[in-house]
Order: sequence, then structure tokens, then C-alpha cells
Amino acid sequence: MGKKTVSFLVSGRGSNFSNVAKKIISGDINAFLGIVLSDKREARALDIARDFGMKAYFVDPNAYQSRALHDRAMVDLLKKNKTDLVVAAGYMRILSPDFIHAFKNAIINIHPALLPSFPGVNGQKQAYDYGVKISGCTTHFIDEGTDTGPIIMQAAVDLRQDEKLEELSARILMEEHRILPESVKLFCDGKLRVKERKVFIKR
Ligand code: GRF
Repeated sequence: MGKKTVSFLVSGRGSNFSNVAKKIISGDINAFLGIVLSDKREARALDIARDFGMKAYFVDPNAYQSRALHDRAMVDLLKKNKTDLVVAAGYMRILSPDFIHAFKNAIINIHPALLPSFPGVNGQKQAYDYGVKISGCTTHFIDEGTDTGPIIMQAAVDLRQDEKLEELSARILMEEHRILPESVKLFCDGKLRVKERKVFIKR
């Protein structure tokens, strides 16, 4: 099995991207760094990527007539750069079916809630406002639904009484920074097998 190339989709501050990229650079994850694509020109993740010496592109959604065309441009860039795994690390757009088919079971997303509860945006706030006692985060392969794809890993976080949303979000983020690199590592080591909606991990 050859060494995999990991590329990233981002929209914002890029802490999950940066955390995984550092582990690839240090060799903790045995993979090559690919490219970084952002749908936001001002995403801090683009600066971080350039600091790492990576190719980083703003692919402007408004420059294309449809989401499908925007996604095709991204797929072309990812394929040209030999991407095996795409990590959606805080990428805030829905991917088109063509993108998903181009990387079937090879796009990992990090979601800040315990799926299937609280999909979509602001998972931490949805759970907090609902009043749950336990929330957390989930890594999963992206399929055509919104946060519905096969689950790779989850981590639970107990809510504390009188905790502020920002505190909860920070504690969930710490778990995101643990399970996302772990999931990427498992993929790169060839240890994930997807059967229908279930992901089996070879240990
Ligand atoms: C994270 O909370 C992630 O779960 C969600 O978007 C946020 C991205 O944060 N999908 P960052 O850009 O990785 O710092």
C-alpha cells in the first residue's frame, strides 16, 4: 500500500487542519501533505497552509455558475495534486454528488456534535440550546446527505452545569483535535473498511 496524499477543504480559522498537518509533518501520520482549498478568501487556514509551505487556493464559489462547476474545479485541483484523502476541516459548504463520487469513502468530515443528533451548522450550539447532558464530536465519511455518512470515531463530552457555550465549544474542540488526526491516521494506514453504513477499524 503506497503512502497516501492528504488534502484539505477549509473555510475558517483552520485549527483542525493545522493540527492534522502538523502530525503529517512530524511523521506521526504517515502521509504526504497535499493542497488546501478554501471557499473563503480571508480564511486563516490559507495563511497557515502557506506557512507550512503548502499550495493553498481560494476557489471562489461566485466565479462559477453552479455548485457543481465550483466543485469540479476543486476536484480537478485535488486530482492534479494526487489527492487520496480529502479532509473537510471546518468546510462550511455542502459538496455536490460529483465531488462525493470522485472521492467515494475518501472524504472525512469533523462535526462538533454526536451525530446523528444536531447535524448542520453550529452543532455545539444546537446541543447546548437543546439542553443535552452529553455532547461531543464525530468524524465520518461524507455521503450525499448533510452529516449522514458512515461514522468513523466519536468522542463524548459531559456538559457542566452553568457552563457557557464558548467553554463547551472549547472542550469539544479539544476532542476534535484528538479524533480527527486519529481517523486520518487510520485511513492512511489502510485500517478503515466501510461496509454499507458501518466503518470497521482494524486494530
Ligand atoms: C470545528 O468546530 C468543526 O467541528 C466544524 O467547524 C469548526 C472548524 O474549526 N466543522 P477550525 O477551522 O478547524 O478551527
